[in-house]
Amino acid sequence: MTTGSLIDAAGCAADASDNLGGGLVLGTLRDGEIAGLATAMAALEPWRALGYQPAALAHYWQRPDVGACRIEVRLNARCAGALCVRPRWLCGPFLELLCLLPQAQGQGVGRRIIDWLATRAAGLGANLWTSVSSTNPRAHAFYRRNGFVEAARLPQLIATDADELLLRRHLGNHRPGVEDHP
Ligand SMILES: CC(C)(COP(=O)(O)OP(=O)(O)OC[C@H]1O[C@@H](n2cnc3c(N)ncnc32)[C@H](O)[C@@H]1OP(=O)(O)O)[C@@H](O)C(=O)NCCC(=O)NCCS
Repeated sequence: MTTGSLIDAAGCAADASDNLGGGLVLGTLRDGEIAGLATAMAALEPWRALGYQPAALAHYWQRPDVGACRIEVRLNARCAGALCVRPRWLCGPFLELLCLLPQAQGQGVGRRIIDWLATRAAGLGANLWTSVSSTNPRAHAFYRRNGFVEAARLPQLIATDADELLLRRHLGNHRPGVEDHP
């Protein structure tokens, strides 16, 4: 069942959700989940090695940002991660962050979320973008297997000892419209 729109240039509606089946539900990130999510993320790679503190990660999920859709991943009714999507980026949306907590990893949840996002993104442009750190080869392999190819290498974008790889999944033909340009 779908309620409201999670991928919306005006931000997620407060009560938007999408039931992907098998206990996997995507919904607008709830304030009450942010502290726990931030604490769990700070203990996870790549954020742990980059030195992110829970307070900084909580601020990332909470700060006013009209261009960001913050989506909670719920697995069997429990918060199992989150993603942040910018619907209008470069002729298509940008998946800025995807984090699944350890108990939700390695079961195909990430693949299902990417497929869902590609379907939702198709009306917004010909591309779905994301980025991954050069120090995260497993995540890079995950994105490659899900149709992303490297579009650019951004040296030392976030850390001096790592590059950020800008990845693109082509979504098919899309006639440029006013929504593709400022
Ligand atoms: C990367 C991630 C989104 C993949 O989602 P998933 O549901 O675990 O992935 P799937 O089950 O669909 O596919 C499995 C593949 O995901 C990747 N993966 C699984 N666990 C991972 C982890 N802890 N870190 C990085 N990649 C991981 C691997 O490529 C794995 O394939 P492998 O087992 O052959 O190595 C998820 O594991 C995650 O959030 N990891 C931690 C945070 C992270 O690295 N996020 C991406 C930052 S750009």
